[in-house]
Amino acid sequence: MGAADILVKKIENREATVGVCGLGYVGLPLVRAFHKVGFTIYGFDIDQSKVDNILAGKSYIEHIDFGELKSACEEGKFIPTTDFGRIGEPDVILIAVPTPLNQTREPDLEAVRNTCEQIAKGLRKEQLVVLESTTYPGTTEEVCIPILETSGLKAGEDFYVAYSPEREDPGNPNFETRTIPKVVGALEAGSQAVANAVYHAIIEKVVPVSSMKAAELSKIFENTFRAVNIALVNELKLMCLRMGIDVWEVIDAASTKPFGFMPFYPGPGLGGHCIPIDPFYLTWKAREYDFSTRFIELAGEINSNMPYEVVDGVMHALNDKSKSLKGANVLVLGVAYKKNVDDLRESPSLKIIDILLKKGAKISYNDPHIPVMKKSRHYPNMPEYTSVALTPETLGAADAVLILTDHDRYDQEFINKHAQLVIDTRNATKKVADRSKIVKL
Ligand SMILES: NC(=O)c1ccc[n+]([C@@H]2O[C@H](COP(=O)([O-])OP(=O)(O)OC[C@H]3O[C@@H](n4cnc5c(N)ncnc54)[C@H](O)[C@@H]3O)[C@@H](O)[C@H]2O)c1
Repeated sequence: MGAADILVKKIENREATVGVCGLGYVGLPLVRAFHKVGFTIYGFDIDQSKVDNILAGKSYIEHIDFGELKSACEEGKFIPTTDFGRIGEPDVILIAVPTPLNQTREPDLEAVRNTCEQIAKGLRKEQLVVLESTTYPGTTEEVCIPILETSGLKAGEDFYVAYSPEREDPGNPNFETRTIPKVVGALEAGSQAVANAVYHAIIEKVVPVSSMKAAELSKIFENTFRAVNIALVNELKLMCLRMGIDVWEVIDAASTKPFGFMPFYPGPGLGGHCIPIDPFYLTWKAREYDFSTRFIELAGEINSNMPYEVVDGVMHALNDKSKSLKGANVLVLGVAYKKNVDDLRESPSLKIIDILLKKGAKISYNDPHIPVMKKSRHYPNMPEYTSVALTPETLGAADAVLILTDHDRYDQEFINKHAQLVIDTRNATKKVADRSKIVKL
């Protein structure tokens, strides 16, 4: 039996241990999935407060059961730590650290590099390292492997390497880690066999591909597909507004076609860690090949203009009430980037609030999932806000109530009853009978 077969057997018998680097939105569901099927897991992070919170059962991500994580720690089945000196202990190391863009909108792989450097210091023979962070094709081979090999070990000979993109969809009740098929590309046959075995343990359907690059690109393609289609429907919405046609009705009608159509919905702009960012990883890499990714650029242009369109819409809606935006009280409902999550990253609400403030509006907000809007690195001058309660008084005091995220917890009838003017960017008010105060954008 070869070394790879021995590790596969160890994984199948749950004798192998798993290390997850990055205990965030992606890392913690992975921990949970491996724990559920009987593995012992190490969790590595650079942020001590995350480790402390996990040990204390204190939540920092709303939809994750921190009670379950705490119990796993108490049983000795989950070991969260900032001590990368223990990186040699797990048999399998999964990397799920952030891959943002830098100030000039280029890939920022600092967290991936740092993690690989930490791993290289303790890497031992027969470990599997899998990158899960979203990134451009070539990263695992060109960035990760050279750093890992500073350990003196050779990838594909002494240790195994693979790339497997994450498809976690926080807040989606229809899917969990186990039921979302997972694409896996590896350096060579041994790495592929070990990586397949790891994911087979927690996921119903593993989809092997012939290379790590194909796996890397498949993820970026998925998110580019979304970004481009959202841009298309955002443009359609702007045209519909001009033509006086309800874009939502058009989408619903088109969606009755049982083949060849997939609905996408317009909104106030792109948000989240993935869709606004990932396509630009590809654009950056394509430049190396003198290739310009025109669809991505155009989609980016349309989507990033949406917050400005929303502010224009607010201005016109106030104008129709003989009010100006300057000095108006605008109550923003929902600042998370999508419904029913507590994630503010890249949220278009931040951009919209920033533009509204610059135009002299007075801002308050409510978000049942985000009690405080702390200072963000993109908007250092924006004041810190605390979510206000939704009462007849707070709703009635606003010149405009602006719905940016359609959380299920909102009672639209109640909002409509007490507001003076409701501006709806999400079709959240579709079931509200009295339309007299509602402006759909
Ligand atoms: N959030 C999603 O829904 C989602 C979905 C699919 C893919 N992804 C991708 O997964 C990756 C991780 O995203 P996330 O949403 O989990 O991020 P996150 O910010 O929620 O979590 C990342 C964690 O990594 C930690 N970290 C940062 N640098 C580190 C280092 N050098 N070593 C160890 N830990 C470090 C951070 O402290 C944080 O706890 C990104 O590439 C992202 O694009 C995210």
